[in-house]
Amino acid sequence: MKDKIYKIKEEALKDMNKLKTIDQLEEIRVKFLGKKGELTQVLREMGSLSKEERPAVGQIANEVRKELESELNLTKNKLRDEMKKRKLEKERIDITMPGNKILLGHRHPLIATMEELENVFMSMGFSIVHGPEVETVENNFDALNSPENHPSRDLTDTFYITEDILLRTHTSPVQVRVMKQKEPPIKIVSAGRTFRFDDVDDTHSPMFHQLEGLVVDKNVTMANLKETIDIFIKELFGYDMKTRFRPHYFPFTEPSAEVDVSCFKCKGEGCDECNGTGWSMELLGCGMVDPKVLENCGIDPEVYSGFAFGLGIDRIAMVKYGIDNIRLLFENDMRFLSQF
Ligand code: DAH
Repeated sequence: MKDKIYKIKEEALKDMNKLKTIDQLEEIRVKFLGKKGELTQVLREMGSLSKEERPAVGQIANEVRKELESELNLTKNKLRDEMKKRKLEKERIDITMPGNKILLGHRHPLIATMEELENVFMSMGFSIVHGPEVETVENNFDALNSPENHPSRDLTDTFYITEDILLRTHTSPVQVRVMKQKEPPIKIVSAGRTFRFDDVDDTHSPMFHQLEGLVVDKNVTMANLKETIDIFIKELFGYDMKTRFRPHYFPFTEPSAEVDVSCFKCKGEGCDECNGTGWSMELLGCGMVDPKVLENCGIDPEVYSGFAFGLGIDRIAMVKYGIDNIRLLFENDMRFLSQF
């Protein structure tokens, strides 16, 4: 019986030497040490031994069992380590390799400027509204009090689609749309594309962008207008910037003004950029909404008053980003755009 036990041990060790996986190892464990395993079987047969023989054989059997168990555990750990090593080897990452470059786009400088302007106005309590680029002559000119013989109405200045429909020449018709739809209080800005029959040069394009603002409520005054424009300019360009209001004429506001801002280069000191004046000319137009316009839009000018302003976004983007040619904004040349 002893020989049988030693033979089982030898066989088990031989099998263990050959195994490659943990599954195989478990098979061996079952084959030799399991309930119906070879060694277990032998132990069961111990009943047939004499009383004298039994303890010695039992001892050997137990020792062999322990040896095999510890050998199996050792092999199991070895296999685990090897598997782990192989896995790590397979999943090895060389962190010094150059990565795959992801080409991310970004906002167009003009859109970035537009959103920045909208954000400043939103922070001042204005809502953003949008108007169509194709407008009626009524909204673009008539309701805005534009005189019948105003040169901008001319076929050579405006893109007409029919006699009554045109590409809006400014964002001011959005004022009309809002006032016709909504009771005061009104506090909106609207940015978007506008169109005029201009020849292209460094500062002119037949398509350009404006932002329109409108506030209508009881007791709105010119002081509110000046305060709003002043804060807006400071928020946008910095608190060292000043504004200057010059009287002007617009058909839809009375009184009207053009607003100059401190020279962007010298901030008011006087330099070659501003011809020594310290001022950047004409950043925006504004004024108190003409009572006639309120009336045209169904708002009682005896109860309500309002102010409005309009500014060119392209110009602001050009100043902000140091762009000296408006064409660059619209040509979609990646060599230009990727600089921002
Ligand atoms: N619509 C004017 C333009 O295109 C700009 C403007 C001036 C808008 C005065 C206004 C305003 O709302 O009050 O030149």
